[in-house]
Amino acid sequence: MRTLGIDIGTTNIKAVELSGAINNMVLENYGILETYGYLERSNAAIQTNYFKLVEEITVELLRQLFLVFKPKTKRAFFSLPVFSSFITNFNLPFVNDKEIAQAVPFEAKKYIPLPLEELEINWMVVAKNVEGGKETSRIVLVATPKELIQKYQHIAQALSLNLVGWEIEGFSLARALVGEDKTPTLITDIGTQITNLFVVDNGFLVNFESLNIGGAEITHIISQSLGVSQERAEEFKKIKGFKIAPEEMGVVNVLMPIVDNFGNEILRMIDIYREKNNRQIEKVILTGGTANMPGLAEYFTEFLNLTVEKAWPFKQIKYQQFLEPLLRDVAPYLSVATGAAIQGLA
Ligand SMILES: Nc1ncnc2c1ncn2[C@@H]1O[C@H](COP(=O)(O)OP(=O)(O)OP(=O)(O)O)[C@@H](O)[C@H]1O
Ligand SMILES: [Mg+2]
Repeated sequence: MRTLGIDIGTTNIKAVELSGAINNMVLENYGILETYGYLERSNAAIQTNYFKLVEEITVELLRQLFLVFKPKTKRAFFSLPVFSSFITNFNLPFVNDKEIAQAVPFEAKKYIPLPLEELEINWMVVAKNVEGGKETSRIVLVATPKELIQKYQHIAQALSLNLVGWEIEGFSLARALVGEDKTPTLITDIGTQITNLFVVDNGFLVNFESLNIGGAEITHIISQSLGVSQERAEEFKKIKGFKIAPEEMGVVNVLMPIVDNFGNEILRMIDIYREKNNRQIEKVILTGGTANMPGLAEYFTEFLNLTVEKAWPFKQIKYQQFLEPLLRDVAPYLSVATGAAIQGLA
């Protein structure tokens, strides 16, 4: 069997093609389509919220991507941005599966601001606890507008893809980057316009937060401080990042406050999780294109005083050895699409 995992980000589209079975997966192919329109026009993103997902443009971009990447399958699994859904978590005072299933729809109404009939509701039990005779279950619930799912179905139809399923990107990331590892982990996905912080504990995605700031902001600040075009600043960021010559140290001074900003948000998320759940996050995984910024992982390691790893979504996947160095570079871009492709094979 083969499956395509497809990640439609705000600016870039990525696809990963896997073959085999869930316990014997092979990386067949991958593709990344970078769209740089946003550097000139801030409204050139493919989507900024779920109402604005532009079907026609997305179809056109995916078509372009497929021309180069030539997937051998039509089976596709989509990963959707977190802002496309309402995601919430809550506790229920019992552990019995039947009782949980009955209670969830009632509980859902409390948290979701839209009529339930307009939404597709998915949920899972992420923890069960029996302590001192007190039973509780922790539920993560995802409610996605049916209208949005239809948009993705239209996109698939226009490309003659067989859409076998979809999920929110955080679940794809947890699967690809954490898998069976039970260590409390924070996945930090720094994209172009958005940064998502996902807490994965015991292998389950249990919490998240979105920040309206991403790699574009870093480019912008470099462009301003050096007085160069956005394109030059983008190049500077990607090639030099924090690893710059002494005569350019001034740039580090402008980079630090913004990167510290990300760092402080990460620390805050870790604190909140500890206070609420009495669990210490032990590891941070950096993903999204910005994870490739030279020196960023090292900078965060020092700032956070924690293990900080760059994303490697191919742990459970076989690939041709000569690809290894190439994959190291594209890995943070492909984490979401890889997680989606894995689920498509399951
Ligand atoms: N080597 C690098 N150094 C620093 N930043 C980089 C590097 N390579 C890519 N980026 C940045 O990564 C970002 C793109 O990341 P990604 O493709 O994960 O975003 P996206 O998924 O399209 O956006 P979002 O997650 O916001 O929807 C851009 O801001 C780009 O400048
Ligand atoms: Mg992304």
